[in-house]
Amino acid sequence: MDEALDLAALHAAHVLTLRARFDRALSACGYSGVLVHSGSLAPIFRDDQTHPFRAHAWFKAWVPLHEVPDCFLYYEPGRTPVLLFHQPSDYWHKVARPPRAYWTAQVDLRPVADRAAARAALPRDLGATAYIGEPFRGLAAWGVSAANPPGLLARIDYDRAVKTPYELACLRAANRLAARGHRAAARAFAGGACELEIELAFLRACGAREQELPYNPIIALNESGAVLHYQMLERTPPAEVRSMLIDAGAQAGGYASDVTRTYSFADADFSSLIERFDEVQQALCSGVHAGVDWRDVHLSAHRLVAELLHESDITTCDAEEAVATGVSSVFLPHGIGHLLGLQVHDAGGLLRSPEGGEIPRPEGHPHLRLTRVLEAGFVVTMEPGIYFIDPLLDAARGDARAARINWTRVESLRRFGGIRIEDDLAVTASGTENMTRDAFRAELGSPGAPGVPER
Ligand code: GLY
Ligand code: MN
Ligand code: MN
Repeated sequence: MDEALDLAALHAAHVLTLRARFDRALSACGYSGVLVHSGSLAPIFRDDQTHPFRAHAWFKAWVPLHEVPDCFLYYEPGRTPVLLFHQPSDYWHKVARPPRAYWTAQVDLRPVADRAAARAALPRDLGATAYIGEPFRGLAAWGVSAANPPGLLARIDYDRAVKTPYELACLRAANRLAARGHRAAARAFAGGACELEIELAFLRACGAREQELPYNPIIALNESGAVLHYQMLERTPPAEVRSMLIDAGAQAGGYASDVTRTYSFADADFSSLIERFDEVQQALCSGVHAGVDWRDVHLSAHRLVAELLHESDITTCDAEEAVATGVSSVFLPHGIGHLLGLQVHDAGGLLRSPEGGEIPRPEGHPHLRLTRVLEAGFVVTMEPGIYFIDPLLDAARGDARAARINWTRVESLRRFGGIRIEDDLAVTASGTENMTRDAFRAELGSPGAPGVPER
């Protein structure tokens, strides 16, 4: 089937689902309509520049318009959503033209020159309309009933965890782009490139600017792999290249992929640790299906990682003891995964019900971003890691955990930083679709297992 036609049909069905979700949520919260802002350009302090623009997720859910600030989506149950498309008179910047694309048939698109025109295009009385977005100066005079009412957002965010077939198609496309980027980055690493050159290779292969990625790539050589959200880019290669941890995703239709691979440059011991770690990651992926409580996935990940730590001579106690005493958290201090979609860390991961409330994280695991029971249609990341993080190791050295860690082995591995392997999984009724491995297979002809990069 023609891909554009296919996407148009998928998007039409997606908007129907979105409308049904909003119909329920608006009625439950007593609103007659909703107004969603795409976001504003944020000025830089005492400058005439602005920060790169990123459209809000709640707006992108309706239309894949991520480059145009100051658009509004107005929806009233039973009526076609109205897209107020910002088309200013501006000879300094390129003014976006009203789009004609696979999705435009689903909205009543009206160009507006500025906010005053946008307000004039809306119903006179917005007294029962909820506003979603960052409040802007002058919003009070628009007469909306409430800005970002928590009850409405909870319902919308709760539902958003279940992706529509259109959203799954976008997430697959975002993974295929990321796979291309990862292949180019792995080649650059194998050729001895510095961190900045590796990022440039990733961007070129994705055909994207940095601001178009869902998050700034984490490209860390050697010890820097231990910095979980490493944000620097060294301009020269290290004297000895040992390892690379690359966590980088791409966007398609406003949806994110979030993919991590770790490579050993030439060290056989580190490379076999990565291979064993990949087996652990794949075993964890195979335990994911609808009905599973993500808190249990997180805790079983700690057990499996703790077994590998013991088997690899990094710890001296068994897995149960390592988890109970917090030793596994020295090496794996972050959550095992999170919801993925319009945002990298998608909203609603802790919600107890559509009415709100929070499902608490397991004690001792403060960074877990998802505590819900999985349903078919959820998309989650699976991203176990083991890292050699100086401040966490220093803290463990000073207490009862010290005796459970093989410090000589830790010292020999510190120079590699750490390992993280991250795939994006769509939950199905019976298991999962591994969007990342499928994408690597489609783009590379191999599942893209981490380890030693292609040369
Ligand atoms: N790239 C951020 C994360 O993996 O959650
Ligand atoms: Mn990631
Ligand atoms: Mn992630």
